[in-house]
Amino acid sequence: SSGNDGAAMAKATPIERITIFGGGLMGAGIAQSAAQYGFKVTLCDVSSKALDNARDIISRSIARVAKRAYPDPHSSSAPEHERKRVEDQRRVLVEGVWGRIKLTTDTEGAVRGSSGAESTDLHSEPTQLVIEAIVEDLQIKRALFQRVDEFAVDGCIFATNTSSLSVADIAEGVRESRRARFGGLHFFNRTPQMKLVEVIRTDQTSEETFQALLDVCARMKKKAVKCKDTPGFIVNRLLVPYMAEADIDIAMKLGAAMGPIELTDFVGLDTTKHILDGWREKLKAAQSSVENTETQKTANLPAALVEPSPMLEKLVKEGKLGHKTGEGFLKHR
Ligand code: CAA
Ligand code: NAD
Repeated sequence: SSGNDGAAMAKATPIERITIFGGGLMGAGIAQSAAQYGFKVTLCDVSSKALDNARDIISRSIARVAKRAYPDPHSSSAPEHERKRVEDQRRVLVEGVWGRIKLTTDTEGAVRGSSGAESTDLHSEPTQLVIEAIVEDLQIKRALFQRVDEFAVDGCIFATNTSSLSVADIAEGVRESRRARFGGLHFFNRTPQMKLVEVIRTDQTSEETFQALLDVCARMKKKAVKCKDTPGFIVNRLLVPYMAEADIDIAMKLGAAMGPIELTDFVGLDTTKHILDGWREKLKAAQSSVENTETQKTANLPAALVEPSPMLEKLVKEGKLGHKTGEGFLKHR
């Protein structure tokens, strides 16, 4: 079909089919949450090893969801058929979720809809929403969106899960006409457990796109907060400096839910470093410019809060990235 058909289709019909790029901590969690609430999801990453990782993350998480939804019978002497019924209910839930997720390394097929031998009914149509959850690097994100822009129908909405970059800067990777359909969907780790999504609009995001993003959040049973395209949006603006500043976990851990060091391991040291490095660069740019309003907003960040943390730098160099590699500030395996 032509691009114009695509635009008309997305206007008329609510989003059913989502393609997610990046099957790491976040992409896997977003895929699971979307599939749990009935969306058809294609999850695309760069290698079969990365897809195995995504499969592991989702399997473990969905098993917990199923166990909570259908708890073990109370009595240990419960009859066998009762245990079997619980097991069957869990299996139906798990298989239902997997039945709506397709894993692939084929970027073009993930966006256009697959064809040929690989095609299934669920994933053969063009995607209506692309959510990007790859490495926190402006150039790499832009390059991905530029590529995806070639394959997506005109009506397809693009959203980034960036933690710290300007959504408008990332949108520069796509053609002008797509930018009205470009916004931010910032989920939190772990996505199936965390209720919040920050929905970000740039100066160019259309009202229709913004409403479609809010609608997707509501259908995923998430609480959406509307955010402007400012560094760190609402939560990370406060959270990341807190994580970078801390060197003692116990007081904050007992006084709040998770200490900042434990939280940094949970988020990923590489991701945290990308965020701080990006903000520091923006701050430098803001100090030498008086015109760009976006960089001016960054200038409000106190410089001391985005200073490099020597311990963080050292651990990232050693490949100790947190839970995902088994060790960060703390050992996890
Ligand atoms: N899927 C869905 N829900 C799940 C689940 C899963 N896989 N596993 C557990 N849950 C639910 C449980 O049902 C439970 O809810 P109820 O109390 O209503 O029953 C709740 O989650 C907590 O369950 P547990 O106590 O078993 O949780 P846990 O042991 O797995 O983990 C925790 C506890 C690590 C403290 C975690 O729950 C948590 O909340 N950590 C803090 C996370 C956080 O602050 N994230 C933000 C990171 S910053 C970020 O994301 C922004 C960025 O850009 C960097
Ligand atoms: P991660 O390192 O766990 O996963 C990133 C995945 O992206 C990897 O599987 C990698 O193979 C894949 N990838 C890299 N380039 C790709 C490409 N061109 N195409 C497809 N896949 C590609 O990272 P993460 O923690 O999931 O973070 C992903 C994004 O989400 C980042 O922008 C991060 O800032 C943001 N985010 C992270 C958290 C968190 O707590 N970790 C929370 C909210 C948002």
